Amino acid sequence: MLIYYLKDILIQEKGGKEINTSIFTNKMEYSQIEKGFGLNADMIIHMPYLVKRAKKASYIIEIGVYRGEGSTAALSYGLNLSKKQDKLMISIDLEDRMIFKPTLNYWSFLQGNSMNIYTVYDVKRISANRVPDIIYIDTTHNYNQLKKELCLWKDIIGEETILIFHDIWMEGKYNPMSKAIQELSVEKNWVFEIITKESCGLGILYNPENKIMREELLEIMENKEPWRYK
Ligand SMILES: C[S@@+](CC[C@H](N)C(=O)[O-])C[C@H]1O[C@@H](n2cnc3c(N)ncnc32)[C@H](O)[C@@H]1O
Repeated sequence: MLIYYLKDILIQEKGGKEINTSIFTNKMEYSQIEKGFGLNADMIIHMPYLVKRAKKASYIIEIGVYRGEGSTAALSYGLNLSKKQDKLMISIDLEDRMIFKPTLNYWSFLQGNSMNIYTVYDVKRISANRVPDIIYIDTTHNYNQLKKELCLWKDIIGEETILIFHDIWMEGKYNPMSKAIQELSVEKNWVFEIITKESCGLGILYNPENKIMREELLEIMENKEPWRYK
C-alpha cells in the first residue's frame, strides 16, 4: 500500500534533515495509553486531533455524526476557537440521533445520504458553493461506501482541503476501506498519512502543498514549537 508522508517530502526538500519523530508520532500519548491511564485513544488522540485541525479551519463538513458527542463535539469545539472568519459547519447523517448539538449559529445538521449526489447539492446550496477546509468522514467503514463517498465529495474539495478519516486501521491491519483513500491519494498525488492506529485509527489526506500542514511540520522540524494537541 502506498502511503507516504509529508515529513518525508519535507526531509528531502530540506536536504535530508531529520524531523523529531518522537514528537511526530505522538510517543507521549502512546506511552500514556500503554500505562493505562484509563482514557481511550479516542479521547487522548482522536478528539484532540480533531480539535487541533478545526482550530485552523473556517468551514467544516462532518459526515457520520451519530450522537454528536464525539466528532461533532470535538470539531465544533475547535472551530469555535478558530480565529478564521465566516465560520460554517455542516454535520450530515442518515438520521438525527444526536444527544449533543452544538449551540453555534454557524452549525447545522443535514439529514442526508453521503452516497447521494443531492446531499452534495444541499451542502453546496447551504454553503453557497464554498470550499471546505475539512471534510471528516466516519460513516460505514467498507471500501464500496467510501469509494462512492469520495467520488462524490472530491468534487467540492479544494487544494487546501484536508480530509480526515476514522477507522482506517482495524484488528491490527488496514481496514479495506483505506484502499479507497489510497486510490484518491494516487489520483490527486496527495499525502495519505496515518495519525494513529490506536482505537481503529485516524488518517488524513491532503495536498503536499497544503500551507497549514507544511507550516506545522516545518515548525516541528525546526523545533520552533513542540508538537502539542492544543
Ligand atoms: C460510527 S458512527 C459516527 C460516529 C461519530 N463520528 C462520533 O464521533 O461519535 C457512523 C454514522 O454514520 C452514519 N452513516 C452511515 N452511512 C451513512 C450514509 N450513507 N450517509 C450518511 N450517514 C451515514 C450512521 O448513521 C452513523 O450515525
